[in-house]
Amino acid sequence: MAIFHNIKGSLISLTSAEQGAKHFGTAFTDKETNMAERNGVHINVRDLTHRYNPKSPLTFDKVNVEAEPGESIVIIGRSGCGKSTLLHIIAGLLGGYTGTNQINNKDVRAASSKWIMMFQAPHLFPWMTVEQNVGTGLRFAGWPKEKIRERVSETIKLVHMEEFAHKNTQDLSGGQQQRVALARSLVMEPEMLLLDEPFSALDAFTRASLQKDVRAISKHLGFNIVMVTHDIDEAVIMADRALIMAGSPGKMMHDLRVDLPDPRDRNDPEVQKMRAHVMQVFQEAAGSPKGSET
Ligand SMILES: Nc1ncnc2c1ncn2[C@@H]1O[C@H](COP(=O)(O)OP(=O)(O)OP(=O)(O)O)[C@@H](O)[C@H]1O
Ligand SMILES: [Mg+2]
Repeated sequence: MAIFHNIKGSLISLTSAEQGAKHFGTAFTDKETNMAERNGVHINVRDLTHRYNPKSPLTFDKVNVEAEPGESIVIIGRSGCGKSTLLHIIAGLLGGYTGTNQINNKDVRAASSKWIMMFQAPHLFPWMTVEQNVGTGLRFAGWPKEKIRERVSETIKLVHMEEFAHKNTQDLSGGQQQRVALARSLVMEPEMLLLDEPFSALDAFTRASLQKDVRAISKHLGFNIVMVTHDIDEAVIMADRALIMAGSPGKMMHDLRVDLPDPRDRNDPEVQKMRAHVMQVFQEAAGSPKGSET
């Protein structure tokens, strides 16, 4: 049995793929899932308006986003409406805005090691093994070797990469590399994971399994997900709420609750019904012809 420390320092045990699969489609039992505490953040973005420089047009105008601790929100919108910019501002990586940008009722003034961004490219160190890559943040933080080994091994199990722990990351597939990047983020015990189209370069099968696992892990450990995507299927699988942005400058048009049980299977009629609803709302907001994708 592996033990994983959640953010408040309590222990969560991880075992049994079969039982866990019933709930989240990954390796957590009913009991273990219930043990997970809510370790996320309260996100409060109010009337956020941004431009890159005084001469450029507004990127977006008076955008509002709110999320409860542990909630998963997915922002959908056409290219250029300001999704990545918004994500960077929430993560404390970008300024130049007016309005409110708060995490846990405090203004965001800088990035935090608890708010972790994942991108389309995994950006691993190719000369290092999976274990070494995953342990990088802990080594920088000055953790003792034994503790690093323990935590790294638990985290690698969490993303189902145990059999590759000693491999060099350059010898892994794109999906496996993205799992290593995910483990490297999780090892730092994030309160919030920010994802900017992280799976868009992957094949459909790999993508689907990562979507399912990332949602399951976030619910198990209790951190927030803030994700940007063009893909409505992905939003319906990953989100507690889908936020629809449109226009130039971008505006937040809709906030839809995706009230579906876990694990979510895209062939489930309820999931398909929700997908059709989100698609219709998106098309009306974005003004795209019926039947076309984003
Ligand atoms: N560094 C920058 N300097 C000036 N303008 C920028 C900069 N980065 C982005 N922009 C502009 O801001 C607007 C929003 O960009 P952003 O990358 O946030 O959009 P997006 O919704 O993420 O698009 P995509 O779906 O293509 O990734 C675009 O018009 C873009 O050209
Ligand atoms: Mg973008």
